[in-house]
Formats: sequence, structure tokens, C-alpha cells
Amino acid sequence: MSYQVGYFVGSLSSTSINRVLSKALIRVAPNDLEFTEIPIRDLPLYSQDYDDDYPAEGRSLKDSISASDAILFVTPEYNRSIPGGLKNAIDWASRPWGQNSFDHMPTAVIGASIGVIGTAIAQQSLRAVLAFSNTRHMTAPEAYIHFTDEVFHDDGTIADSDTEDLLRSYMAEFRDHVQRVLTVLPRR
Ligand code: FNR
Repeated sequence: MSYQVGYFVGSLSSTSINRVLSKALIRVAPNDLEFTEIPIRDLPLYSQDYDDDYPAEGRSLKDSISASDAILFVTPEYNRSIPGGLKNAIDWASRPWGQNSFDHMPTAVIGASIGVIGTAIAQQSLRAVLAFSNTRHMTAPEAYIHFTDEVFHDDGTIADSDTEDLLRSYMAEFRDHVQRVLTVLPRR
């Protein structure tokens, strides 16, 4: 049995270091996790005015989450918080009222920054949002990744064995978390 993991990259940058991190995470993940990126770029800014008739981008987002067994967030920190594009996507997924796509969803968050703080504050903000969204969030381990070109290569290879071990362990823990949650709260 394999698990379908939808993942969000919280950056719209064409040179995103968090996209590189997502490739690295997929490389070291257990074999029974299958990954599909859930794009956020083309979503309009959310408004309740859309609730009666979601546009195609909003429906596609919610369908992608529904097709997932778990969601992984790989995000930068913007001004000590969640990037606006990612927060907008979460708002879309959480609505219309009563149709929250994240209900009971196994989730985890990780991120990379060029600073040594490694997205710690953005992750704390995101955890609060995911708690309110009623996800079943992996509380530990946490992983705050200080990104350097020497360690992370564009194709997702990792040039430092300690970092590779850390990410491998993180993904193994995520996989166990997903299995535990779905054992109690099967999605289908
Ligand atoms: C940043 N950056 C940043 N870094 C950080 O550690 N804490 C922060 O609060 C911020 N704030 C911030 C705001 C904005 C608007 C930008 C554009 C950048 C720097 C950030 O870590 C760096 O640009 C990363 O490359 C962003 O990740 P992606 O987009 O490359 O994945």
C-alpha cells in the first residue's frame, strides 16, 4: 500500500530554494510515499463572493487535496510569517463553510531559508493555521533548514550526509505519522 502525498511549495519564485528542498525531500522519502505538487500560482485572491460558485482554479485545488492521503507544506518565511500566496491557497481550501478540505488531513510543515533561522517563525504561524483548519499535524520532529548551494543541488541531491540523514529521518517520521492518522481516520 502506498500513500498519496500532495505537497505545497509556498514560493512562487522561479529560483525557489524551497522547491529545491521539496526535490531533496522526495529523493529521501520512503518508497511508499507518492508525491504530487498542488499548484497555487493561478489562484485568484480568495473572497467569500466565490463561495456560491468556485472558479476552476479553486475547484482544482480542492480536488487535488481530496485526492491526497496527506499534505506536506514546504515553505519559505516571508517577513516572519507565511507567504501570502500560500495563505491564500489555504483560505481557498478551507471554504466554503462546512467544506473544509483539510478536515482530519495528516499534515507536516518544513521549510528552508537563506538565514540561519530556517523558517522557524513562519512554521509556527502555519502550525496555528493548520490547527484551526483541523488538520492532524505532525508536531515532532521539527525541521528548520538553513539553505546553502553547497549542500543542496538543483536536482535535489544533497551534498552533506548529516543533512541527508536529517531529511531522511524527517520523511520517515512523516510517513509513520500519516499511517497512524489514517489507521484511526481513514480517508476513503
Ligand atoms: C524573505 N526572506 C526571509 N527569510 C527569513 O528567514 N525570514 C524572513 O522573514 C524573510 N522575509 C522575506 C520576505 C520576502 C518578501 C522575501 C522575498 C524574502 C528571505 C528568504 O528566506 C529567501 O528569499 C528565500 O530564498 C525564499 O525562499 P524561496 O522563495 O527561494 O523558496
